Amino acid sequence: MNSCVIGLQWGDEGKGKIVDILAENSDIVVRYSGGANAGHTVVVGDTKFKLHLLPSGSVRPGTTCVIANGVAVDPQVLLEEIETLGQQDITLNGRLFISGNAHLVMDYHKKEDQLREESLGKNKLGTTVRGIGPCYSDKVGRSYAVRMDDLADLENLKVKLQAIVDYKNKVFSALYDAVPISADELFDKCKVYSEKLSPFRTNTTQFLHKAIADGKSILFEGAQGSLLDLDHGTFPFVTSSNSSSLGMPAGCGVPAKTVDKFIGVIKAYTTRVGAGPFPAEQDNDIGQYIRDRGQEYGTTTGRPRRCGWFDAVPVSYAITIGAIDCIALMHLDTLSGLKELNICKAYEIDGEQTRFFPTNAAQLSRATAVYETVPGWEEEITEVSDFNDLPENAQNYVCRVEEMTGKPVTMIGVGPKRSQTIFR
Ligand code: GDP
Ligand code: IMO
Ligand code: MG
Repeated sequence: MNSCVIGLQWGDEGKGKIVDILAENSDIVVRYSGGANAGHTVVVGDTKFKLHLLPSGSVRPGTTCVIANGVAVDPQVLLEEIETLGQQDITLNGRLFISGNAHLVMDYHKKEDQLREESLGKNKLGTTVRGIGPCYSDKVGRSYAVRMDDLADLENLKVKLQAIVDYKNKVFSALYDAVPISADELFDKCKVYSEKLSPFRTNTTQFLHKAIADGKSILFEGAQGSLLDLDHGTFPFVTSSNSSSLGMPAGCGVPAKTVDKFIGVIKAYTTRVGAGPFPAEQDNDIGQYIRDRGQEYGTTTGRPRRCGWFDAVPVSYAITIGAIDCIALMHLDTLSGLKELNICKAYEIDGEQTRFFPTNAAQLSRATAVYETVPGWEEEITEVSDFNDLPENAQNYVCRVEEMTGKPVTMIGVGPKRSQTIFR
């Protein structure tokens, strides 16, 4: 059985928790897109792991972890993550495999991300400043790209880095009047990356196909959310990779039909970090209530997340483009205490109602949410483990989400811990 976990909103839906739970019955967990812009939280007992590049299965000692070709690997962040797990006696030796084709996020990518965002002022995208856009730009541009495989040939890499840094410094100086970076210092860092990461480097496409032939169970871990997909999200307020399930085959060289089940993860409400239209946003007491109860602050950047009502319009769209089979509905506990809940069931755009999600940012910014109001529930539900023990209104809310999205809710999150999950 192979599964793929996909965020159906603007990221941070709780993918890390779901992947960690499903990893118990998986042999291999694969990250295939995005980079250290992702922040996937896994809570084990009293320990909270915040993973940016390592698959969320990595906290389980017996799980094999793959970082496939589609990931933008920041070697510095990755080494820090491996070290942090090591301090907790969790070793990745012998069970982490990184694609030689994966592109590397270099210091100049992060600098470029930061300088560009700063120069855009109020028009900035609100990126995580993790160098993601510049790294993927260099991947598409090809001439100045550095991949994991380049770490195997330091002599060539030295020459290559000098040419790239010369070019980047010209750009930094001309566009931003910024201080240049040193090719020598960068190369010294790369020598360390080469030494420490080379043992993990392999052909992950070949590795995964062998695993499939051997009947291993594989769990594919999506990063970001479908609405941040470069081609199918709310452009330009998106990330620079295909973060819907459409990115999975290209990101790891395994056809989508290998996946038996695509599991979409949503929150019982909606959040978004960074700029861009958000029709169901509640920039008011309701939004603050959700932010406080749900601890809605970015896992990677610490930024307060924008919060709003559950919006069935984009979720239905993400289900359609992603061939999603079932839903994990997270953070139901966060909604306790609200007298009434709104669910966005359609948009009104230019005087017309539609249930179709417009990804054009200008059009989406003209959309007004059309709500259906349902009764809330007072009780705390963080200890509930059986669906039938949920307050009736909470049960009805889950059923309404199912009706609106047309997909069964098979898992419900009632808290951050593994045990705080209701299976149906
Ligand atoms: P991801 O990026 O999709 O993995 O999600 P994040 O880790 O960035 O953000 C989700 C946050 O919600 C984390 O702090 C999780 O520990 C937490 N979380 C996950 N599921 C639940 C849930 O059902 N209830 C509550 N209260 N917190 C949850
Ligand atoms: P996980 O995997 C939430 C958002 C940023 C910004 C936009 C572009 O934890 O769900 P980027 O740095 O990618 O160029 O930023 O995308 N973004 C995320 N938002 N969760 C994430 O990942 C995100 N990764 C990127 O906030 O709006
Ligand atoms: Mg996150």
